[in-house]
Amino acid sequence: MLPCHGRGRGFESRPDRFSIPDLPRLYARCRRIPSGECGFFIIRTTFDPAARRVNESRLRHTGYFRLRAGSHTFSTARPSLLLALDSMQYRRLGRSGLQVSALSFGSWVTFGDQIDVDRAAECMQVAYEHGVNFFDNAEAYANGKSELMMGEIFHSKGWKRSDLVVSTKIFWGGDGPNDRGLSRKHVLEGTYAALDRLQMDYVDLVFCHRPDLHTPVEETVRAMSYLVEQGYAMYWGTSEWSAEQIRHAHGIARQYNLVPPTMEQPQYNMFHRDRVESEYAPLYHDVGLGTTIWSPLASGLLTGKYNDGIPEDSRLATAGYEWLKDQVLIEERIEKVRKLSDIADQVDASMAQLALAWCLTNDDVSTVITGASRPEQVEENMQAIEVADRLTDTHIDSIEAILDNRPAEKRDWRDN
Ligand SMILES: NC(=O)c1ccc[n+]([C@@H]2O[C@H](COP(=O)([O-])OP(=O)(O)OC[C@H]3O[C@@H](n4cnc5c(N)ncnc54)[C@H](OP(=O)(O)O)[C@@H]3O)[C@@H](O)[C@H]2O)c1
Repeated sequence: MLPCHGRGRGFESRPDRFSIPDLPRLYARCRRIPSGECGFFIIRTTFDPAARRVNESRLRHTGYFRLRAGSHTFSTARPSLLLALDSMQYRRLGRSGLQVSALSFGSWVTFGDQIDVDRAAECMQVAYEHGVNFFDNAEAYANGKSELMMGEIFHSKGWKRSDLVVSTKIFWGGDGPNDRGLSRKHVLEGTYAALDRLQMDYVDLVFCHRPDLHTPVEETVRAMSYLVEQGYAMYWGTSEWSAEQIRHAHGIARQYNLVPPTMEQPQYNMFHRDRVESEYAPLYHDVGLGTTIWSPLASGLLTGKYNDGIPEDSRLATAGYEWLKDQVLIEERIEKVRKLSDIADQVDASMAQLALAWCLTNDDVSTVITGASRPEQVEENMQAIEVADRLTDTHIDSIEAILDNRPAEKRDWRDN
């Protein structure tokens, strides 16, 4: 549903034809496409649903518009100006040709354990309207319920399958000895069951949710390769594998002409950096590793919501996740979040937006998987794309000074 419609100079809302999404502000980005006589420039403008107008004063072009929101496109006569209601960026997943939205959306803790299908659908709708194309899931999330919910939502929305990048992760599928781990049996059976729950013929990404110390890596690489070759998944990857384990899998794939892993799903945020910034660094170049990073807000700590205790309706107050408290609530980190909030103010952002934007500034991050328990959080988090554009080197240096946890750079012995 489109909120406004191109009409010569500026835009007017068409409430008779299009519903206005329940968004406080829609950010618009205009891009003039080079056409000989004109150069390339980008104008930002805002659409205010209350005033039902785009701020015309900042549009410096008359003529023809193409207007895009999600997958909807409207055009006027000359394709010289593109107005996109979302400012999502798309990045290649490592060296693969797959384009993933720089911000994506996952369902851990929330779907099934914290929110119901209606709330989950609202969150996914807001993410989708902002251009999110990657939705992350796992067989373990809420014991399969999360995939059931996401499958139901995809089905009811009727979004085009080719517009979506959907994942599952295999490792913890149940209590039996063959319901967990990365044996060929569980990799195949786990994936088939996940596809049933998701109501899909294939997932785009399938991850080994952890390394399995009890299965030869060759058996797992053969099983994952089979899933890709048979069309059950487009790409396979790992989650929380060491660089050495990833290299091992690549070596086996090369040796036997199998499909190598494309991506890793590691934790990455302001407080958890070493693996992504240091350990994996050679892999980005050597094997073209992509990264779909998780817990960018450290389970909410980086929003500042835990600065003064645990709010009742938050993740750390959710039944069954008490164990997270010890990992998340670390006084030294809370103190740093308090200081970081000043920088967030300087760039006119919330603390959550600053923390997500900081992850986005790392070019080795293919996509930042966000999580949310309410649509308002998704709305807020999606603006991190704009905030990342506003971060200067000075801001980044100030952030580093507060964090004081940058992994040491490798010594270049030639500089001696
Ligand atoms: N591969 C793995 O092992 C692994 C592990 C974990 C996660 N993941 C994936 O990564 C995704 C993201 O991880 P995550 O959920 O831990 O991400 P996160 O961004 O660190 O935490 C998300 C949580 O923070 C709170 N939050 C988010 N935005 C907020 C805002 N603007 N204001 C206030 N609170 C906000 C919400 O919790 P409350 O509102 O309940 O407080 C939300 O559920 C998961 O959904 C999953 O797909 C993968």
